[in-house]
Amino acid sequence: MEWGIGLLFSVLMGIFVGWFWYNNNKKMKREVEKKGGVPKGSLGWPFIGETLDFIACGYTSRPASFMDKRKFLHGKVFKTHILGTPIIVSTDPEVNKVVLQNHGNIFIPAYPKSIRELLGQHSILQMNGNLQKRVHALIGGFLRSPQLKSRITRHIENSVKLTLSSWQDMQLIHVQEETKKITFEVLVKVLMSIGPGEDLNFLKKEFEEFIKGLICLPIKFPGTRLYKSLKAKERILKMVKKIVEERKLATGKTDEKSNANDAVDVLLRDSENANDKQSLPFDFISGNIIEMMIPGEETVPMAMTLAVKFLTDCPVALHQLMEENMELKKQKMKSDEDYSWTDYLSLPFTQNVISETLRLANIINGVWRKALKEIDIKGHLIPEGWCVLACFVSVHMDEENYENPYRFDPWRWAKLGAAVNNNSFTPFGGGQRLCPGLELSRLEISIFLHHLITSYRWVAQKDDIIYFPTVKMKRKLPITVTPLMQLPVVWPIEESL
Ligand code: HEM
Repeated sequence: MEWGIGLLFSVLMGIFVGWFWYNNNKKMKREVEKKGGVPKGSLGWPFIGETLDFIACGYTSRPASFMDKRKFLHGKVFKTHILGTPIIVSTDPEVNKVVLQNHGNIFIPAYPKSIRELLGQHSILQMNGNLQKRVHALIGGFLRSPQLKSRITRHIENSVKLTLSSWQDMQLIHVQEETKKITFEVLVKVLMSIGPGEDLNFLKKEFEEFIKGLICLPIKFPGTRLYKSLKAKERILKMVKKIVEERKLATGKTDEKSNANDAVDVLLRDSENANDKQSLPFDFISGNIIEMMIPGEETVPMAMTLAVKFLTDCPVALHQLMEENMELKKQKMKSDEDYSWTDYLSLPFTQNVISETLRLANIINGVWRKALKEIDIKGHLIPEGWCVLACFVSVHMDEENYENPYRFDPWRWAKLGAAVNNNSFTPFGGGQRLCPGLELSRLEISIFLHHLITSYRWVAQKDDIIYFPTVKMKRKLPITVTPLMQLPVVWPIEESL
């Protein structure tokens, strides 16, 4: 009997949802046709749209092929329906630029529901308008400052050397895991001055639990992935709140001119010296510190890992990179001087290897926005309420922008110029939300590559890149290494960061 009722209920639900989808889709199509000029494209099957094809392409070596097929049929800007949302996709660098610049605040970030739940409404990744500009400027100013780069260089070096020296006793090294150790330590040091020890281990464990829920079903009750992740966030929040409170008590009113040690300092000082501005509440500061860990946590280690992968597959580039870095190492040994952050960033071929890695890796394949108002960009109408995907991967893999786009070719950057950011090269986004961690990331990758390549030779086992839901190595990139020379490790370093 119960089984029968269940079946009837399911059938009725099915009919209702089907009817709802049909009407909704028809209404949307009517609206779209009425306005004219809306990008062409197909919304695919009921409910799933074109999601299956989108995901399938993410598991091939051609992650842009989903976009390429539609670009060929409908042009550089088209509509589709993926991951539960009808969306206008732009593979046009100029359209992307307008979306990213976001003059008049027409576009707001539009993340999937599970991400929104975990971020919280006050996260810098979700906030808009003046508050976003203020927090972005504060954090960006701090992360880009020469003072931070000079202090953090020593810390990154030591973290890299400590990790690399542990490889001598390991038979098989999984680069994707090892690089995470380095970058997580650097991240929490920059954000809240936590060094190696119990607190760092606690944070690492809880943060891993927290981010597992970023891409999951948005269902929140005990036992579900989202629920577990939210619980982990509560535990992290408790710890970060304590740090913020202790810091506030220790410093009192601070001199705005003295250098901030970490992001907690930066936000606390702004809050204390708010005067006419609205001061940032405590919860806001703690929440934002955690949320700033999200964009930094997986991206930098993946860039390091993929640099190792691409170099392994391109021995000529590997050789040139080694020569350039060995030269710097010899100079430093001869003069007995420490490296400065500018030394690492001054190696042109190394910087070209990093640019090429970021282009080819597409760690952030695009950004999702929602239009608050109807807008016309280059003759493409984006109706109010529609989502837009400014797709970076398609631009980075387009023959119009890069000759032989699927080839790892660091030499192309010598011809293109050190185009750190133009419309066709946006690994760090652009406009109002250009990644504030851009320079820090490049510094971290440069230091890692320098010490890796001047300390070891390696052989990598076969592994493939997966592009969905995020960029990863299927087997975490296993390698075996042969040391070139002993690595000196200085640890712990002076604790003032
Ligand atoms: C290779 C490494 C990295 C890549 C590829 C990357 C990429 C990006 C991209 C594409 C955006 C723009 C998102 C949007 O427009 O919605 C972004 C924003 C952001 N990134 Fe990064 N990122 C990296 C490393 C970092 C690091 C190390 C940090 C922190 C220390 C960081 C902090 C942020 C923050 C706070 C934002 C939000 C800015 C805002 O909305 O105002 N990122 N990142």
